[in-house]
Amino acid sequence: MTGVVVEFSHVGVRIQNNKALSDVSFRIQEGERWAIVGPNGSGKTTLLRIVNGYLRPSRGEVSVLGGKFGQTSLSEIRKRSGFVSSYLDNLVESNDNVLDIVVSGKYGATRLWEIPPYGDVQRAKLLLRQLNCSKFENRALRDLSEGERQKVLIARALMPDPGLLTFDEPCAPLDLSARESFLKGVGSIAKDKNRPSLAMIYVTHRIDEIPRCFTHALLIRKGKSLVSGKIKGVITSENLSKCFDINVQVKRWMDRLYPVVGN
Ligand SMILES: Nc1ncnc2c1ncn2[C@@H]1O[C@H](COP(=O)(O)OP(=O)(O)OP(=O)(O)O)[C@@H](O)[C@H]1O
Ligand SMILES: [Mg+2]
Repeated sequence: MTGVVVEFSHVGVRIQNNKALSDVSFRIQEGERWAIVGPNGSGKTTLLRIVNGYLRPSRGEVSVLGGKFGQTSLSEIRKRSGFVSSYLDNLVESNDNVLDIVVSGKYGATRLWEIPPYGDVQRAKLLLRQLNCSKFENRALRDLSEGERQKVLIARALMPDPGLLTFDEPCAPLDLSARESFLKGVGSIAKDKNRPSLAMIYVTHRIDEIPRCFTHALLIRKGKSLVSGKIKGVITSENLSKCFDINVQVKRWMDRLYPVVGN
């Protein structure tokens, strides 16, 4: 039996009197890679904000990497998981340079308030090198293309050597070839033998984006979990049609999934 990385039990959250999530339950074990799929407004980003310690649930129970909400501080949760998201993109100061932004990931912060230890700077440089981003480590984040920013945010997310890496629609702004190169990068992080227990969550409303190495999926609709488990049993024509309220057939091609929409 492996360790539990994320557990949601009947989780709900209200934001400004709006039910952003009403009843979500699932459990992710070490090393598993989950796709979370659902229509616009179904609660996917809200769910990831909870997982990453940016939002507290209003009801139900959540634990992330051994920290139980209510008993562990949100900043502690933020240090344990890695978040790649345009939501975060809005939080980081776009005037800060790429190297500082990557180092800040170690502290679960979006800015550096002190001069960081030498070892942290060296680690950030190594991660940027591995992601082919060394050449712009001194540039401001706002001066990068969308594809480059996504890679920098991955380096930032890997900075604390997290047990969990989460992505929120990372391919939305990317063109076809940037998207495929990004998905290849996600695949190589997943297969990295130095991180055998790293779990991943990839949020999207496009099933053709789900990387090949993904093992499990959760379908979410109107703030509620619809079905969860091994990808093959979850992303079916029947389940996807129910989730998106549209007649859709799921086709498999070279271990990726594609939707074909009917009448
Ligand atoms: N700050 C907020 N204030 C009020 N309502 C919010 C807030 N954030 C989210 N919501 C509401 O919660 C629901 C879920 O939003 P969420 O952003 O989680 O959806 P999503 O599945 O990520 O959608 P998308 O695919 O469009 O990104 C929506 O109805 C949204 O309007
Ligand atoms: Mg969203």
